Amino acid sequence: MDLDWNNLGFSYIKTPFRYRATWKNGSWEKGELTEDNYLTIHEGSTALHYGQQCFEGLKAYRRKDGRINLFRPEQNSQRLNRSARRLLMPMVPEEMFLEAVEAVVKANQAYIPPYGTGGSLYLRPLLIGVGENIGVHAAPEYLFTVFCTPVGAYFKGGLKPTNFIVSDYDRAAPKGTGASKVGGNYAASLLPGEEAKGMDYSDCIYLDPSTHSKIEEVGAANFFGITKDGMFITPKSDSILPSITKYSLLQLAEERLGLKAVEGDVYIDQLDQFTEAGACGTAAVISPIGGIFYQDQLHVFYSEKEVGPITKQLYEELVGIQYGDKVPPKNWIR
Ligand code: COI
Repeated sequence: MDLDWNNLGFSYIKTPFRYRATWKNGSWEKGELTEDNYLTIHEGSTALHYGQQCFEGLKAYRRKDGRINLFRPEQNSQRLNRSARRLLMPMVPEEMFLEAVEAVVKANQAYIPPYGTGGSLYLRPLLIGVGENIGVHAAPEYLFTVFCTPVGAYFKGGLKPTNFIVSDYDRAAPKGTGASKVGGNYAASLLPGEEAKGMDYSDCIYLDPSTHSKIEEVGAANFFGITKDGMFITPKSDSILPSITKYSLLQLAEERLGLKAVEGDVYIDQLDQFTEAGACGTAAVISPIGGIFYQDQLHVFYSEKEVGPITKQLYEELVGIQYGDKVPPKNWIR
């Protein structure tokens, strides 16, 4: 494969095969692999007009021994179904989800970045409402697809700290779709994200939409901080995307690093309590936050140049498990 494995960014590289299945007349038809990377759908599809769609992100990793690891794919299946339920779409049975993911990984194995390059094969399951329609109601048909692309770091620099700016915009409403992995949440983040990048920040930080006093998310990733007394804390809110990486880190912080690990309130005017901070997610992995710009000041955590020791340890544990170098907790690797 003629790819620069050591310098992959987070962009689309066409791979040969993707999985497709259609839901019609109340049930899923048998899915199959196809080489066509375009979808032809009806102009009235609810996914196009009313945002009736949801997606997932997970990765396949090449191990040192040549085998391939999937990281907690059952969690992605469950989250996809929670998103689907919120948008009145049919569930994708876990068995079908896993079969699709595994078929796509196997068919595109040549595109899994080699062990040691830091890259992985990013899988994007997608469920969309399609078929003839114009009214605001659930679609008559659905399409489930899984495609993949080799990726490297999401934020420039990978495990190097970058800075973020607090946004005036809200990402999601209380009782809205913030906890669902739906395109509308990401569409709403494009303008704030672009404004942040225009000011040389990596992305923006969203505060809680009710009081604008607490950190909720870091662009398309979750937030975590390490307090002076060694606690791992990540925001608790119903409008945050429940990141599988975040829940994995909560467990690893406690079990492997011996830290107290909690979900709680992270007040934007109490950043002094943290010695380190980071963004986490499937795409972001762990991306250290150098500083956060808020009310005319840049609050620097550990350093704008160096990654803090606890963030580094968490990264090594997580990535070590994902690439098969460290023993995983039960049922984390497939
Ligand atoms: C992920 O971390 O997998 C995401 O979906 C974040 C973003 C690339 C949409």
